[in-house]
Amino acid sequence: MAKMEVKTSLLDNMIGVGDMVLLEPLNEDTFIDNLKKRFDHSEVYTYIGSVVISINPYRPLPIYTPEKVEEYRNRNFYELSPHIFALSDEAYRSLRDQDKDQCILITGESGAGKTEASKLVMSYVAAVCGKGAEVNQVKEQLLQSNPVLEAFGNAKTVRNDNSSRFGKYMDIEFDFKGDPLGGVISNYLLEKSRVVKQPRGERNFHIFYQILSGASEDFLCKLKLERDFSRYNYLGLDSAKVNGVDDAANFRTVRNAMQIVGFMDHETQSVFEVVAAVLKLGNIEFKPESRVNGLDESKIKDKNELKEICELTGIDQSVLERAFSFRTVEAKQEKVSTTLNVAQAYYARDALAKNLYSRLFSWLVTRINESIKAQTKVRKKVMGVLDIYGFEIFEDNSFEQFIINYCNEKLQQIFIELTLKEEQEEYIREGIEWTHIEYFNNAIICDLIENNQTGILAMLDEECLRPGTVTDDTFLEKLNQVCATHQHFESRMSKCSRFLNDTSLPHSCFRIQHYAGKVMYQVEGFVDKNNDLLYRDLSQAMWKASHSLIKALFPEGNPAKINLKRPPTAGSQFKASVATLMKNLQTKNPNYIRCIKPNDKKAAHVFNDALVCHQIRYLGLLENVRVRRAGYAFRQAYEPCLERYKMLCKQTWPHWRGPARAGVEVLFNELEIPEEEFSFGRSKIFIRNPRTLFKLEDLRKQRLEDLATLIEKIYRGWKCRTRFLLMKKSQIVIASWYRRYAQQKKYQKIKSSAIVVQSFIRGWKARKLLRELKHQKRCNEAATIIAAYWHGTRVRREYRKFFRANAGRKIYEFTLQRLMQKYFLEMKNKMPSLSPIDKNWPVRPYLFLDSTDKELKRIFHLWRCKKYRDQFTDQQKLIYEEKLEASELFKDKKALYPASVGQPFQGAYLEISKNPKYKKLKDAVDEKIIIAEVVNKINRANGKATSRIFLLTKNNVLLADQKSGNIKSEVPLGDVTKVSMSSQNDGFFAVHLKEGSGAAGKGDFLLSSDHLIEMATKLYRTTLSQTKQKLNIEISDEFLVQFRQDKVCVKFIQGSQKNGNIPTCKRKNNRLLEVAVP
Ligand SMILES: Nc1ncnc2c1ncn2[C@@H]1O[C@H](COP(=O)(O)OP(=O)(O)OP(=O)(O)O)[C@@H](O)[C@H]1O
Ligand SMILES: [Mg+2]
Repeated sequence: MAKMEVKTSLLDNMIGVGDMVLLEPLNEDTFIDNLKKRFDHSEVYTYIGSVVISINPYRPLPIYTPEKVEEYRNRNFYELSPHIFALSDEAYRSLRDQDKDQCILITGESGAGKTEASKLVMSYVAAVCGKGAEVNQVKEQLLQSNPVLEAFGNAKTVRNDNSSRFGKYMDIEFDFKGDPLGGVISNYLLEKSRVVKQPRGERNFHIFYQILSGASEDFLCKLKLERDFSRYNYLGLDSAKVNGVDDAANFRTVRNAMQIVGFMDHETQSVFEVVAAVLKLGNIEFKPESRVNGLDESKIKDKNELKEICELTGIDQSVLERAFSFRTVEAKQEKVSTTLNVAQAYYARDALAKNLYSRLFSWLVTRINESIKAQTKVRKKVMGVLDIYGFEIFEDNSFEQFIINYCNEKLQQIFIELTLKEEQEEYIREGIEWTHIEYFNNAIICDLIENNQTGILAMLDEECLRPGTVTDDTFLEKLNQVCATHQHFESRMSKCSRFLNDTSLPHSCFRIQHYAGKVMYQVEGFVDKNNDLLYRDLSQAMWKASHSLIKALFPEGNPAKINLKRPPTAGSQFKASVATLMKNLQTKNPNYIRCIKPNDKKAAHVFNDALVCHQIRYLGLLENVRVRRAGYAFRQAYEPCLERYKMLCKQTWPHWRGPARAGVEVLFNELEIPEEEFSFGRSKIFIRNPRTLFKLEDLRKQRLEDLATLIEKIYRGWKCRTRFLLMKKSQIVIASWYRRYAQQKKYQKIKSSAIVVQSFIRGWKARKLLRELKHQKRCNEAATIIAAYWHGTRVRREYRKFFRANAGRKIYEFTLQRLMQKYFLEMKNKMPSLSPIDKNWPVRPYLFLDSTDKELKRIFHLWRCKKYRDQFTDQQKLIYEEKLEASELFKDKKALYPASVGQPFQGAYLEISKNPKYKKLKDAVDEKIIIAEVVNKINRANGKATSRIFLLTKNNVLLADQKSGNIKSEVPLGDVTKVSMSSQNDGFFAVHLKEGSGAAGKGDFLLSSDHLIEMATKLYRTTLSQTKQKLNIEISDEFLVQFRQDKVCVKFIQGSQKNGNIPTCKRKNNRLLEVAVP
């Protein structure tokens, strides 16, 4: 989708006014207020027409991002709020599209932000110009030249932590498409005195500190340097560290930049060696030594440093040592050698250090130029960026400040000339009448300095070249003579000066009233610095160095090329180069950035009115505005003007079909703007007063609001209407759908109801019909049946006498009755006896009576058993119960049992109470005796039997002697645990006693009796009734019997019949008792 272009203007959302030309009223206060207001809102850029005023924010602002670059790219200058990018874009496009060489002149005090501005311009141009690998490399090299030059040429001063101590003019060259090809850098007068001495609170050039902080130990060792700043006399100690500056990191940046720019490794190495040599030179010290002839001589105190310097630079130590002690003057084939005193030796040392460093710097610029030189010979378009040291006023101002300020005067001059010229040209171009404007022209100050006959520089040169004793004071005297009458020159001595009695001016000083303020210069050192002499012995010593870079830096040291002519002085050299620069600048289209410093503290957010006021005054900014407004304050091309204000007139809104100029005419007529307020140029409308413009702006704002309301109104109406229509349409759709649905439902209901009703009626009709038919049918059937029965009855009645069909059954039933009668009658006669054991039963006569016969037999048996039982007395019942018990215990288990069935259980076989022999026994046992019988007790030792009386009472088992009736043992029934016997036909049994009971001491009883079954049964029953526990009766042919402590196994075996039927018992061994049963 094509991006919709939004036409904006500088006038939108302005804080104060974006262009000072629009300031109303225009005076110093409003000017400063406007700057301050904008500064407080982080608007650091303001225009005066096409000039950009930049106030140093002293803090990073988010206005240099790639997005901002895109925003300003290809936009008209006045379209967006003021920005350095707008100026850069204008300059670049003008260069690319209109083939006009450009120069960007950045001026302002030290610390006002010139260097930063120049870098911003370069980075903007780099961002918007062509792309591609080759082009990118060129861009990168151009950009990376900055860190290198800043490291060697910038230093911390009281005004600026990164103050440029050299002037720089860089031409960036482009091809016809606007792609960068390369560049050329010119440098102006490095402040080399800084190498040997820095004012309080200032530093030497950054590179010295960067090497010492950032180089590796190894590298430092190679350079014979130590990390400690305090080791070096040339490094002022009081401000060696700068807040927020990381020298070590910057060193890495510089090395990297050098590599990108194209320095070879050995070149980089040489450069640092020279820097190291300069540092070390400062440590050479001299002491006085008197010779016999009375001449002062000096001697190097400690030769170690000298030795190291010589090793670094490859100079013969003796040569250098001599160069520090002698001075050879050559004049017309004559060579005169004089010794140097201590002061002269120090002077020579410092001169060498300064020269070495400044020549190294110039070499660096040349070397960079070699790298960034455009590679083609095609015609180039050029954009020059001038970043020169700002106007400076220090406490002590010397030759350097004089030169710097002279340069600034020249720049101001060119600024005045070019702005006026441009303004004039525009008026002519647009066909508007030009009115003269009053302004301060500083040409007069430039003349004071540079006039070839009477200029200060010319006089300085004259003094330097004059034979005889020349001192700074003679120079001042000369100045007093020649310049005394000049209105911008002041001196204590000048006879004609109005300030003759001005004691504020010291003797050895003069004062110049620069465009930017009065500056007092100390005359001391002027002559010397202008001469810029290095003793020939020293330059020759340097030339002899084996270090190729140093050798190249001192070509005049080559004895073969001795040139007795004096080299041009520093002042005249500078003047010449400034003149060339000015000429160069005049051929280009100028773009101005005027930097202003908001405060002296390098602090953000601080705006010092007085300081800014001072700068505005000397930069002549107010005059600049006046020039710009002379006649007409504001101008704008017709198209954007019409575009901006067309809504103010019915004819031009919304579209004007004719030429823009005609449109603007119609517009202005309609608005009834007084005719003297504007003028029509060829391509622009010129507005005399900012008031008129603001009136237009106000009208526009009002109109925009009305338009916005109108648009809003129409939009709201449209929105509501479309919504209403949509709702209406939707409502109809919904209603129609609903109606259809309802009708469908209704129809379906009626339909189904009709079907139901219909089916009911049909059913009802059908059922009625069916009922009738069924009734009819049943009537028919009934009639038929009735008829048939009736018929049958009549027929049977008629034919019954002829039927025999029922006779068979009757005969059968009769026969059966007869047979049954006969069976029962016979049964009555043949009934068997009533004995339950009688097995006879009459034979059944007929097979069909089989089940009846069996049933009868069973019933009869049950009945006679009952009859039999009914005869029993209670005594007999008890006996049979015992018999029954015996049968349950022993039937099919003990071979002896069947024989016992027939024997009645008598219990008391021995009549104890009747036999007087047993009177004592009888007395001892007062309970009822259940068994009294003689048994054989088997001897444990040999198996022989002894007779004992066995008594069972309700609670005890007793064994008593048969003869005496003495009780041998008495065991409570509870202590009897078990009775063991064999399964065979013998009467042996063992009575096991509970272990640990009183009677168990002698062990279990092994007895033999003829009534074993009876005794066992009674023992069992009595124990059960007495202890409620079933006595365990074990029937086994092998069981254990406890005899005292031993357990003896009683084993029953099949014995021979030699002893008749009596079983015999025999002790086999300790553990076995064998019973042989025949
Ligand atoms: N646009 C800016 N945004 C943020 N900080 C700035 C900007 N311009 C300048 N500064 C700050 O101000 C300091 C001084 O700026 P700069 O070195 O450009 O001054 P200068 O005019 O070149 O001074 P000199 O004449 O001493 O070289 C910079 O180091 C930087 O910290
Ligand atoms: Mg600078």
